[in-house]
Amino acid sequence: MTRKKRKIIITVDGYSSCGKSTFAKAIARELGYIYIDSGAMYRAVTLFALRRGLAGNGIADEAGILNALPEITITFRPDSETGFSATYLNGEKVEREIRDREVSDNVSPVSTIAGVRARLVELQRSLGAGGGVVMDGRDIGTVVFPAARLKIFMTARPEVRAQRRYLELVSKGLPADFDAVMKNISERDRIDSSREVSPLRQADDAVVLDNSDMTPEEQMVWFRELYKKRINES
Ligand code: DC
Repeated sequence: MTRKKRKIIITVDGYSSCGKSTFAKAIARELGYIYIDSGAMYRAVTLFALRRGLAGNGIADEAGILNALPEITITFRPDSETGFSATYLNGEKVEREIRDREVSDNVSPVSTIAGVRARLVELQRSLGAGGGVVMDGRDIGTVVFPAARLKIFMTARPEVRAQRRYLELVSKGLPADFDAVMKNISERDRIDSSREVSPLRQADDAVVLDNSDMTPEEQMVWFRELYKKRINES
């Protein structure tokens, strides 16, 4: 008798710009799972705060943002162009806007606010509750789904990450300056790893993937091995 494969939760955490979302999307596509981008939620709150003048110059107005939280609704809807979900802020599609430089420069301070994290963790848990999801972020394996079956912690050398991010911006026709990208990456790593609430850290039971010298296909070969082993263990 063949046993129906159980749909598990896969978490992908790690530093900024090490290719988490590309890798997580490829896994989701291969397994027929849903991909959830938790960083997009922090970015959407940051975009809202910027528009309201509650964040800027790397500083977030904690009281103001907490006060405005009930006015923020974040949803995801399938996007036929990409085949994945697009992020909506209060009904407006903001998938492009949340990737802007200003959002990237202000998202880390906004994500240190405990009340913001509590709201978004609740949303992340509700979206992933049924299993069959790949979620990427910083605290998914440690805080959001500590009991997930498969946890991956991604890393890559800082200069490799900056180069990838720089090339991504260039390919999208966005303004790009290598030194500025490098600075943003190091600053986000510093804040994400040192914040008091849910800092970025590797879960004890996570498997590390350093993809500095790996192609996307090599990463998938690595993943298939790992997944096969895990599924056979259950
Ligand atoms: O994955 P990303 O670069 O789009 O995430 C943007 C920021 O959001 C990141 O600098 C830190 C924050 N973040 C977080 O604090 N916790 C998560 N689970 C995901 C992202």
